[in-house]
Amino acid sequence: MKNNYTHLPVLLNEVINSMKIKMDGIYLDCTFGRGGHSKRILSKLGENGRLLAVDRDIIAVEIAKKTIIDSRFTIIHTSFSRISKYLFEHNLLGKINGILLDLGVSSPQLDDSQRGFSFMSNGPLDMRMDQSQGLSAADWIRKASKEEMTKVLKNFGQEKYAKNIAKSLYYLQRNHNLVLSTTQDLVKVIKKLGKYDGRKHPATRCFQAIRIHINQELEEIKKILEDVFRILIPGGILSVISYNSLEDKLIKYFMYNNSNINQWIPSDLPLNEEQRRKKQRQSHKFMFKISKKIRPSTQEIINNPRARSAILRIAEKISV
Ligand SMILES: C[S@@+](CC[C@H](N)C(=O)[O-])C[C@H]1O[C@@H](n2cnc3c(N)ncnc32)[C@H](O)[C@@H]1O
Repeated sequence: MKNNYTHLPVLLNEVINSMKIKMDGIYLDCTFGRGGHSKRILSKLGENGRLLAVDRDIIAVEIAKKTIIDSRFTIIHTSFSRISKYLFEHNLLGKINGILLDLGVSSPQLDDSQRGFSFMSNGPLDMRMDQSQGLSAADWIRKASKEEMTKVLKNFGQEKYAKNIAKSLYYLQRNHNLVLSTTQDLVKVIKKLGKYDGRKHPATRCFQAIRIHINQELEEIKKILEDVFRILIPGGILSVISYNSLEDKLIKYFMYNNSNINQWIPSDLPLNEEQRRKKQRQSHKFMFKISKKIRPSTQEIINNPRARSAILRIAEKISV
């Protein structure tokens, strides 16, 4: 197990400020990674505070166990979409003061060529965050139909040449018995059909798309968002960092659709039919107070170019 790769936590001060950490609060870091945010949260907690952290990557979990020896800290190896089950079993539903989601992959996952996430190096074409389950990228490409591959490359990568790349991947394997087993095998196929998009490497979009699909990343987000209101205590905070427009759209709409922003109709005004229906719908909704989105400073991007696409969104569960 390689563990000498590091990860610089993104928007660290902004995340910690957004979470308004209470010394005796209970916090949930859904994406432990290398624990940059977790360690800072722990440093703000008093002796009765607690931090639960989650990661679906066993290497991240092993590192957490070795590096954070603290009775206030628990690391759980699971997908965050399943965390509400754990919280229910431990009588913690509705008791969490803050949830952090720092989405996507960590630098160690990208930098370790053996994980297969990067088109810049050569390694097995895997791309699974949790290598103990599901299909690797190579297995998926071997089994998927042209149509399925086209859909994934288009929907999750906005890849212009999706259809041609999918067709080529399909025929090379089925008709020419080519086995795509490494990241560079895939890069070679894409490079024949795709072009540089500005300074973007031709494989950027396909690698993003396949990674999102293999790890069911958008489904994971949708599932945890369904549970957030039940998990948080009134006044509890949800802080989410996303790194691409697909993730951010889910977060943004979830927060807006359930937020005080919708409560613009003053109660003493006569309402038309549409407004009355809107208000009725809202009265059944879970409510959050949301803050302005936050982006990394220029200095942070210079220090850590991987932070450049980060967007932090924050929602507070309105006390009832
Ligand atoms: C961007 S990194 C988090 C970095 C962390 N905040 C830090 O400062 O070290 C994302 C981490 O979340 C994990 N992850 C991504 N999606 C997950 C999911 N659905 N369930 C659990 N862990 C997930 C990845 O394995 C990765 O380790």
